[in-house]
Amino acid sequence: MGTSHLPFLVLGCVLAGPSLVLCQLSLPSILPNENEKVVQLNSSFSLRCFGESEVTWQYPLADEDPNVKIRNEENNSGLFVTVLEVANASAAHTGLYTCYYNHTQSEESEIEGSHIYIYVPDPDVVFVPLGMTDYLVIVENDDFAIIPCRTTDPQTPVTLLSSEGVVLADYDSRQGFNGTFSGGPYVCEAIVRGKKFHSIPFNIYSVKATSELELELEAPKTVYMAGETIVLTCIVLNNEVVDFQWTYPGEVKNKGVVMLEEMKDPSIKLVHTLMVPKATVKDSGDYECIARLATREVKEMKKVTITVHEKGFIEIQPGFSQLEAVNLHEVKHFVVDVQAYPPPRISWLKDNLTLIENLTEITTDIEKIQEIRYRSRLKLIRAKEEDSGHYTIIVQNEDDVKSYTFELLTQVPASIQDLIDDHHGSTGGQTVRCTAAGTPLPEIEWMICKDIKKCNNETSWAILANNISNIVTEVSRQDRHTVQGRVTFAKVEETIAVRCLAKNLLGVENRELKLVAPTLRSELTVAAAVLVLLVIVIISLIVLVVIWKQKPRYEIRWRVIESISPDGHEYIYVDPMQLPYDSRWEFPRDGLVLGRILGSGAFGKVVEGTAYGLSRSQPVMKVAVKMLKPTARSSEKQALMSELKIMTHLGPHLNIVNLLGACTKSGPIYIITEYCFYGDLVNYLHKNRDSFLSHHPEKPKKELDIFGLNPTDESTRSICQGCLGAHILRETEDFKA
Ligand SMILES: *[C@@H]1O[C@H](CO)[C@@H](O)[C@H](O)[C@H]1NC(C)=O
Ligand SMILES: *[C@@H]1O[C@H](CO)[C@@H](O)[C@H](O)[C@H]1NC(C)=O
Ligand SMILES: *[C@@H]1O[C@H](CO)[C@@H](O)[C@H](O)[C@H]1NC(C)=O
Ligand SMILES: *[C@@H]1O[C@H](CO)[C@@H](O)[C@H](O)[C@H]1NC(C)=O
Ligand SMILES: *[C@@H]1O[C@H](CO)[C@@H](O)[C@H](O)[C@H]1NC(C)=O
Ligand SMILES: *[C@@H]1O[C@H](CO)[C@@H](O)[C@H](O)[C@H]1NC(C)=O
Ligand SMILES: *[C@@H]1O[C@H](CO)[C@@H](O)[C@H](O)[C@H]1NC(C)=O
Ligand SMILES: *[C@@H]1O[C@H](CO)[C@@H](O)[C@H](O)[C@H]1NC(C)=O
Ligand SMILES: *[C@@H]1O[C@H](CO)[C@@H](O)[C@H](O)[C@H]1NC(C)=O
Repeated sequence: MGTSHLPFLVLGCVLAGPSLVLCQLSLPSILPNENEKVVQLNSSFSLRCFGESEVTWQYPLADEDPNVKIRNEENNSGLFVTVLEVANASAAHTGLYTCYYNHTQSEESEIEGSHIYIYVPDPDVVFVPLGMTDYLVIVENDDFAIIPCRTTDPQTPVTLLSSEGVVLADYDSRQGFNGTFSGGPYVCEAIVRGKKFHSIPFNIYSVKATSELELELEAPKTVYMAGETIVLTCIVLNNEVVDFQWTYPGEVKNKGVVMLEEMKDPSIKLVHTLMVPKATVKDSGDYECIARLATREVKEMKKVTITVHEKGFIEIQPGFSQLEAVNLHEVKHFVVDVQAYPPPRISWLKDNLTLIENLTEITTDIEKIQEIRYRSRLKLIRAKEEDSGHYTIIVQNEDDVKSYTFELLTQVPASIQDLIDDHHGSTGGQTVRCTAAGTPLPEIEWMICKDIKKCNNETSWAILANNISNIVTEVSRQDRHTVQGRVTFAKVEETIAVRCLAKNLLGVENRELKLVAPTLRSELTVAAAVLVLLVIVIISLIVLVVIWKQKPRYEIRWRVIESISPDGHEYIYVDPMQLPYDSRWEFPRDGLVLGRILGSGAFGKVVEGTAYGLSRSQPVMKVAVKMLKPTARSSEKQALMSELKIMTHLGPHLNIVNLLGACTKSGPIYIITEYCFYGDLVNYLHKNRDSFLSHHPEKPKKELDIFGLNPTDESTRSICQGCLGAHILRETEDFKA
């Protein structure tokens, strides 16, 4: 190291540090004024240092060497002089001697002063003896390193050897070898007077290190109870050689146990653990971990505050008061902050019963916020009336119990449950009762509207004064949530409307009722009854008419042929019911055998029949028998009877189907007529159309006129001509169908 030798003192001001201006002293000077000096073995030597202030020496083998003496010397020049004297120089005295101002030095920084390097060559001691730690050389991230094999004689040549042979590196007898070395042992070799000397092997360690230290202090817990073991870990990543140091309250008593754990995978990690067993309250305080890099001046520290409690504790802080209200259907949370150690058990009660935790309507939860801070929440999903009550939170651990109770009131809007009136018999008095529910308990107010026609206009309503002579209002409480209001009218003379209003904080509901004066009421009742009767009668009439119209009936409609002609013929109305029935037409039933059905209508039918003994000339005779179906009603029977009477009345005729006989007694009515062999007229005309057109039209008419008809007459043999005209004279609804 080159030193500037300033024999004269120079005062100057130099910037030292970011903002500190020191008027620094010029460097001390050394006598002998040389860079280096070779001293004889076993000889003595002295070094003098001059300075403007007190100076002191730094030298090899400091302190423990009795052969080195340091003393102050007087000098008239006004300078401070310190002399270092070595009585018996040995190889170990080889090294750098530095003189410096002792008061300007801080402990951390490198000493700044003047130097002289002394060699004490010893043929027996080629290499300067070193401390054990100097043989460990730590190389950081494959950087330059020094293998400090210094010789006692500057002239001695030295080579460096590793397991692989000679290693080339810069050599300086004051420093040793400077180069980049891989890990492993290295030996320095020197030849003095033909004799080989080897140093003790130097071990090179190649380590990983970062320029910045990343330090983490982990405290799984910061709160403890007396007797527990405090555990803290300090972690450094990506550095292999780190010095750890702990400062903590129990440090003086050396209470802590320290462990170092090194992990290489996946990256280098040093874990330094401090354990303080059987903690007491006195162990509360700041715990600090300091880590230093071994290879350079990098330091990092982290701090945590640990609290040790004599025993467990609980503190609770509810975020609500002891009386709370919730609106119906509202969602509401009640939060309690808890600080506790050891961890507490938290439970909620409702009216002294444990809340079932999985209710969907009320839930509770516990959340850990920090190490000893918890938050418990009571959640009402949709507040209901029955949720009102006393809720209690109980927090407990081994050492403490705390609880807090609050009352919850579910507010329910006022609602009217019932509005009815009572009549006081003949006095004409009436009482209206209004039952209302809600929480808080509703108030009941009455309003009255005297002009019934205008009650839909709000201006017609007036508040019912409480003190009017013939109206009395009362209120009575039914239960916690229900109240009944009553208003009594001594006499209701005209129809009025009464309105009940139920009010509480959350709402108002009203309902109205009409009070009718009693006299008016009875008249109204009669009118209503009459009206109802009338309606019933009308409806039944309509129904009857409809039924009547729907059913086709078998009746005879008399139509006199002459009525069609326009030349003023008289109308003749005949009531067939009045006609007599000539019992000579009666034919015994057992003389009649019925055959197939020839035709049928809604009420009647015509069947083929064989009559025995109906005519003398023809003992067995084919006939048509007209009768009613079993479903026929009496009116139809009458109609058939009328038909029979008409036929007997008209008498036989060529052009009609003539009556032959009848069965009217003891059984259904049978009308026995001629049998038409050719079916009905329309079909016959259609079938025989051609033959009709070719015949002479006059002749048949003439011939037909000569036949007379009589039930007893045999000439009825030639009946068939009459069949053709059968349907011209009479029409019945029955046979039209
Ligand atoms: C120094 O002293 C030692 C022991 O007294 C002696 O062996 C050695 O020869 C001396 N060396 C010199 C150079 O005087
Ligand atoms: C005081 O120091 C100076 C050198 O700075 C030297 O020349 C002088 O002799 C010293 N005086 C005494 C009395 O030692
Ligand atoms: C000097 O030191 C050597 C070795 O320590 C010792 O042998 C010798 O006697 C000493 N000489 C004197 C004069 O003290
Ligand atoms: C500095 O010098 C004074 C006086 O000589 C001494 O008491 C003190 O220990 C010295 N300090 C150091 C750090 O050497
Ligand atoms: C070692 O050598 C390198 C390169 O020549 C140099 O940068 C470094 O400062 C040297 N180390 C020492 C301690 O002198
Ligand atoms: C709950 O229990 C306490 C004490 O046992 C009692 O004073 C309180 O009245 C009870 N509360 C209810 C709502 O039952
Ligand atoms: C709710 O809890 C009760 C008892 O705590 C249990 O019997 C019941 O099965 C639970 N129901 C559900 C849905 O978890
Ligand atoms: C209600 O009555 C008042 C006075 O009686 C009248 O001024 C107002 O127009 C009426 N309102 C309606 C909606 O009929
Ligand atoms: C009823 O009360 C009202 C006001 O409160 C008062 O003006 C009136 O005179 C009272 N009437 C009776 C009959 O007490």
